[in-house]
Amino acid sequence: MTNVSETAGASSTTMYRSMSDHSSIRLNAAAPASQNAWTNRRGWSSAVKARMIEARDNVVFLVISKSPKSATLLYITSLPSSKSIDRRVFVPSASAESDRQQLMQAAHGFRISQALYVVAKLGIVDLLEDGPRTSDELAKRADAHPRALLRVLRVLASLGYFTQDASNRFGLTPKTRPLLSDDPDSVRPMIIFLGEGQYQATGELLHSVRTGETSFDHLHGMGHFEFLAQNPEASAVFNAAMASGLRQTENPFDRYDFSGRHLVVDVGGGRGDQIVSILRANPMMKGILFDLPQVAPDARAYLKASGVASRCELKTGSAFESIPPGGDVYVMSRVLHDWPDDKAALLLTNCRKAISNDGILLIRDSVLPEGAVASQAKQMDLTMLIMTGGLERSEDEWRALLRASGFRLANVRRTTSPFDLIEAKPI
Ligand SMILES: C[S@@+](CC[C@H](N)C(=O)[O-])C[C@H]1O[C@@H](n2cnc3c(N)ncnc32)[C@H](O)[C@@H]1O
Repeated sequence: MTNVSETAGASSTTMYRSMSDHSSIRLNAAAPASQNAWTNRRGWSSAVKARMIEARDNVVFLVISKSPKSATLLYITSLPSSKSIDRRVFVPSASAESDRQQLMQAAHGFRISQALYVVAKLGIVDLLEDGPRTSDELAKRADAHPRALLRVLRVLASLGYFTQDASNRFGLTPKTRPLLSDDPDSVRPMIIFLGEGQYQATGELLHSVRTGETSFDHLHGMGHFEFLAQNPEASAVFNAAMASGLRQTENPFDRYDFSGRHLVVDVGGGRGDQIVSILRANPMMKGILFDLPQVAPDARAYLKASGVASRCELKTGSAFESIPPGGDVYVMSRVLHDWPDDKAALLLTNCRKAISNDGILLIRDSVLPEGAVASQAKQMDLTMLIMTGGLERSEDEWRALLRASGFRLANVRRTTSPFDLIEAKPI
């Protein structure tokens, strides 16, 4: 979302200024419709159109919500016929009214989140890969209620996730393409996981905050991984979501120097995306993928298709009991943040027992920035609170946890993603 501030408000004319490109928009809400409106009957502002053509070299239109006293710019985007859709949300942020609007927009976010989940779950985006379809046709193919699906789709179309024509024919936009199942970087599994397990547990955030307990456990009467062990479908969604999450983020192992290393053990490695990428880049290395038994079917299938199965052994068990010994590299990617300090320390202590004295432990997890800095890891920290009782940690917290478990923090490599790389060496 682009931040836009209201820079001047004189009588009925308001000036909006974009924080990103310094373009500005003047809107006179009280002016007669003929003056403000473009020929389009929806009420586009011609003044805005002219300004934005000049600013962006692109044809744009606005959705304008009018009240007797004010006009609010909700969206700005290129025309549907244009190939590149440039969408920005214009919200005057300097006024009390706009602060209220932003607050309410954030509070209403759950609806959009669930609408995206619904189209992901029903595979609507896949049904549009060959071209636009009417909502009735989509409902039939997706086994959904026609009118209800239309209502979801038109909300998402109003936000630029679909095109919509007068006969309720919906089409893809660049914003929805990442939801295609066959997109190599598809976010569909992650959106399904967010809309199911995480959404339900987030609904119990208040319980976690009142009690400090894990809301997932409160909701289901068991821990997340126990639940996945009993629900193979949810487990497959989770494993695919984790793999999808890995693909969306910078892989710090791409430029890691593994020379001189022989055996990598990926503890809690999921279906194996991380270890496969390491083994592909380092043909002399062998690997052990270690995870809970419930992950084995997905891991077996993924390893088989990976081309490195002959160099990668799959072992199952609980890392709280023991971790396969013999490796000179141990990887824990997004595992330790799942657990509170006592449990994370147990995992690390077991890793210390398994690792050789000259081995290296590579932890892919967030290192929380100090102070009131914006950070995606802070939101992820809430996910840990509600899902597994874990937490994101600052560099000092990582150092203390590692030291208490027989390791020393040797290095932190920051990445462009919320997941950094922490190198730890046995003490
Ligand atoms: C958040 S996922 C991370 C998966 C993968 N390493 C990644 O970065 O995408 C946590 C992983 O830890 C595994 N796990 C949870 N408890 C475990 C245990 N007791 N022993 C071994 N693995 C465990 C889960 O099955 C899951 O694959």
